[in-house]
Amino acid sequence: MTDKVVLIGFMGAGKTTVGARMAAQLDTYQHDLDQIIEQHLGESIQNFFAREGEAAFRTLEAQVLDRQLAEIGVLSTGGGVVMTPTSRQLLQRTATPVVYLRTQPEELLRRLQGDSQRPLLKQMDREGFMALWRYREPLYQAAADVVVDTDGLTIDQIVTLISKRL
Ligand code: S3P
Repeated sequence: MTDKVVLIGFMGAGKTTVGARMAAQLDTYQHDLDQIIEQHLGESIQNFFAREGEAAFRTLEAQVLDRQLAEIGVLSTGGGVVMTPTSRQLLQRTATPVVYLRTQPEELLRRLQGDSQRPLLKQMDREGFMALWRYREPLYQAAADVVVDTDGLTIDQIVTLISKRL
C-alpha cells in the first residue's frame, strides 16, 4: 500500500484521528494541515479567522497544502479545503490518493455540539450547517479517489476500509 494519503471531509469527520491511526499503521508521518498552519501563524486559526477573515485563511491553506503534498505521509486537511479552486485543483492533480471521509450531517452535528474552536460553526445555525454540508458534498466527491462512509464505524474499521480501497 501507498505511504502517501490525503484525507478530506467535513469538520468533525475524524480526519485527524483517522490520519493518526493510519500513519501509525503505515509506520509513516502524519501531517495535519490545520496544525501546520497554526505553527506557521504562531496563533490559532480561530484568532486568524477573526482578524483576517476566511479569504486570507483560504489563501494560506492553499499555499500550505501545495507544499505538504510533496511530503511523505498521511495528510489530514481542514474541512474547508475544497472551498478554494486552487486547493481543489491541487487535490485533483496530485498523484497521492485522496480519501473522502463521508459522515452524515446529523452525526457531525452531534459530534460538534458544544465546539468552540471552529470559527465557521459560530456563524451557523442547523440550517446553515446542513446547507454547507450539501454545498461541499459534491466538491469532496469530485476531489476524492476513494469515498468511505464512516457512520457507525470505529476508527479501526475506517482505517481497514481505507487500506482495502487504496
Ligand atoms: C474549517 C475546518 C477546520 C479549519 C477551519 C475551517 C472548515 O478544520 O480548517 O476552522 O471550513 O470546515 P477541521 O475540518 O479539522 O475542523
